[in-house]
Amino acid sequence: MNRRVSSRSLDDTGELVPDSVTLVSPPPSGLDTWSGPLGICYCEVFGGPPWNEAAHTAARFRERLRLKSMRPGFRIVLALEHGQILGFCYGAATLADPELESWYAAVTGALGPGVTDAALTDAFELVDLGVIPTARGRGIGSRLQDALLAGANEQRAWLMTRADATEACAFYRGHGWLELGSFGPPDQPGQKLLMSRRLR
Ligand SMILES: CC(C)(COP(=O)(O)OP(=O)(O)OC[C@H]1O[C@@H](n2cnc3c(N)ncnc32)[C@H](O)[C@@H]1OP(=O)(O)O)[C@@H](O)C(=O)NCCC(=O)NCCS
Repeated sequence: MNRRVSSRSLDDTGELVPDSVTLVSPPPSGLDTWSGPLGICYCEVFGGPPWNEAAHTAARFRERLRLKSMRPGFRIVLALEHGQILGFCYGAATLADPELESWYAAVTGALGPGVTDAALTDAFELVDLGVIPTARGRGIGSRLQDALLAGANEQRAWLMTRADATEACAFYRGHGWLELGSFGPPDQPGQKLLMSRRLR
């Protein structure tokens, strides 16, 4: 059964008002139902700069999600309003085996084993977070992130984003994420940025 999280937000006068956005956390076995609408949502979320994801990348996203959903600790949270997905956030536990966790080699090669140990050990990976452009600035991204991380059992969380994703980087910094280093060709689009946050 889906886990629902009720919520309220502040209106212009600072009063608490009911929010029509509902957070839903379907189990991995129920993901098939959401797969189509999630692909559409993904393209809307990441269709603009700097991501510029084209419509055909929906299939790649769905496959990435399917593979992640088989990992231990996988969780996904969707924000729904009037039956439409406004945003989503998902992640999973980082695998302890460097052979299986592709980021170990990439992060160690670029930033050194100390950063790998500090960020990826006993850590939850926030894989994707996104809200469709018309629903941004309503606190939905914050609520998705908080709901996802609240269910993680690990000591810390990490994520990989793009250094030129200005809005996302500001959002993460504002939510206590620290930048551990960037890698990839400097001063070029697509440079990766590793961020980390303590959970407990
Ligand atoms: C990053 C992203 C998820 C943020 O989503 P969001 O729903 O706009 O986030 P929030 O509304 O929770 O917070 C954004 C800002 O709105 C503010 N805000 C929160 N609640 C608000 C409300 N009720 N009314 C107005 N503003 C509000 C927050 O304080 C925050 O402001 P600040 O960071 O400038 O101080 C969204 O911009 C996005 O999807 N970007 C594209 C995809 C992406 O880059 N994802 C990350 C890559 S991994």
